[in-house]
Amino acid sequence: MCGIIGYIGPREAANVGIGCLRRLEYRGYDSCGGAVIHDGRMEIRKGAGKIDEINRELKLDSMKGNIGIFHTRWATHGNVSRENAHPHCDDNEKFSIVHNGIIENYSYLKEQLAKKGHAFSSETDTEVIVHLIADYYNGNLKDAVLRALNDLEGSYAICVISSYEPDVIIAAKNESQLVIGLGNGENFIASDIPAILSETKDFIIMENREVAVVSRDYAEFCNLEGTVIQKKIQRTELDAASAEKGLYEHFMLKEIHEQPRAVEDAISNRISEGRVILEGEFPLSANDIKRIIVVACGTSWHAGLVGEFMLEEIARIPTEVEYASEFRYRNPVIEDGTLVIAISQSGETADTLAALREARKKGAKILGIVNSIGSSIAREADYVLYTHAGPEIGVASTKAFTSQLAVLYLLTVYIGDKKGLLPQQQVQNRIRDIRKLPLQMQKVLGKSEAIRKIAEKYSGKNNALYLGRGINYPIALEGALKLKEVSYIHAEGYPAAEMKHGPIALIDEHMPVFFIATKDERTYSKIMGNIEEVKARNGEVIAIASEDDEDIGKKAHIVINIPRSSYILTPLLAVIPLQLLAYHTATLRGCDVDKPRNLAKAVVVE
Ligand code: AGP
Repeated sequence: MCGIIGYIGPREAANVGIGCLRRLEYRGYDSCGGAVIHDGRMEIRKGAGKIDEINRELKLDSMKGNIGIFHTRWATHGNVSRENAHPHCDDNEKFSIVHNGIIENYSYLKEQLAKKGHAFSSETDTEVIVHLIADYYNGNLKDAVLRALNDLEGSYAICVISSYEPDVIIAAKNESQLVIGLGNGENFIASDIPAILSETKDFIIMENREVAVVSRDYAEFCNLEGTVIQKKIQRTELDAASAEKGLYEHFMLKEIHEQPRAVEDAISNRISEGRVILEGEFPLSANDIKRIIVVACGTSWHAGLVGEFMLEEIARIPTEVEYASEFRYRNPVIEDGTLVIAISQSGETADTLAALREARKKGAKILGIVNSIGSSIAREADYVLYTHAGPEIGVASTKAFTSQLAVLYLLTVYIGDKKGLLPQQQVQNRIRDIRKLPLQMQKVLGKSEAIRKIAEKYSGKNNALYLGRGINYPIALEGALKLKEVSYIHAEGYPAAEMKHGPIALIDEHMPVFFIATKDERTYSKIMGNIEEVKARNGEVIAIASEDDEDIGKKAHIVINIPRSSYILTPLLAVIPLQLLAYHTATLRGCDVDKPRNLAKAVVVE
């Protein structure tokens, strides 16, 4: 996912802009650049590579000028090259643009502009926009941008500057997130709030099909027809430190260790006098919910699978979990009383947003379980339960995942209570169980060094299997995803019982098999049987087990103990050793833990 920064004010734009751009690196990118205006002249420096490399080569942050736009590119149209890096400019270098999104009709527009004599120097869809603006320019930059935007089909977050009007940046948003940061005699534009948290806490979140004219002293908004829009200024509670690594070597490790606090923040304001209180955030009557469909992607989809177990177990509501990318194209059946829950850390995942819209079109009520405040999914849902995990910078989702599970648990207890399925004492027991969790999570985090030693043993492997049953089957999937996305080792998660239907053919002395084998009355004995099956074929067994389990050590080669908790809260503890295992394995393999190859923090394109 691309990153955008704009700056206008008394300071050197490049120095401020590149500093803020670095805080968007977590989104994943392959090239970067910036454009500034100084003494009426546009200067553009850009290249294929990381910010530090291109800055060493081209001195990006030394460009002179008090107005500038800056960009990190995650390639969609056109390969990774200097020509395709942003910013892009018109033939006469009077206009330049940075863009995040995809213009669906760029080929047609490019042909029309080429017939008018425009020459293109890149393969990108973005370059078409700036030529369109130059073509329309007739003395008013905002009007030229409005005309160009009305020709576009697709998603965009853009910043445009022109040496004809060096006192304003024009910003526009459709589908791809963009925020305006308000300073004192200076203003900022960014792809997300954490990128400019060090500069300001006052923000205006742009909505789809809005345009902003940003100068040093003001920010004015209109729609694509040019009609003025009044926007609300929001002050964020986040602090800059929460968006920094602090004492940790990587954001992923910091965020793994932030999980007790993240769970605490997800639950603390939603429990009062022995009850779960969600009425204000989720006023839908529990008895009106006849069916639940969860739509999500990746780790958030795994959270949905755990949520399915919770909701059916306690709230007794038929629940199914769908890949958002499949749901959106399947013409799903939505009856009255269907609640669709869209789970998303970023709140910008294109497939999840599209699935939400499809569900709404068919009459479903939508609940968003989202981490990013004011994100598209949060704004388009009928109700939002924020996870309050704070900025999650590492591409591999960790604290957002466990806070999603905490919110799903509270939602389940709330619905069960409202439907009269839970006697008051049971509600209080369930609340007591989750209140204990942050301390229990802290205890598991204390095993990080021991888990690093285990990672040393397996970091040279090429394959791994993760097996779990019941509510911990999704944790097997999540453990496998964590390992593959940060260490590039091929890993698969399976329901343990599925082994006999094929995967057991993979077992030999080279295959480490990670079991979630915590003690529970339902599946423990079955999991023990699965461990025997793997050992009988010389597989290496590493088990996540309950700390009071005295038998598992006789069966598994390696045991990682976690505290006993109620069965449906086990996932929030069992996942931590697997997150740490993935993290340590990746660092041992010299991988880029926070920005794994090919990945983006939020997949805002299909
Ligand atoms: C998780 O570690 C991955 N980064 C990825 O699967 C992610 O969970 C998925 O892209 C969904 O993102 P979202 O939660 O922001 O919608």
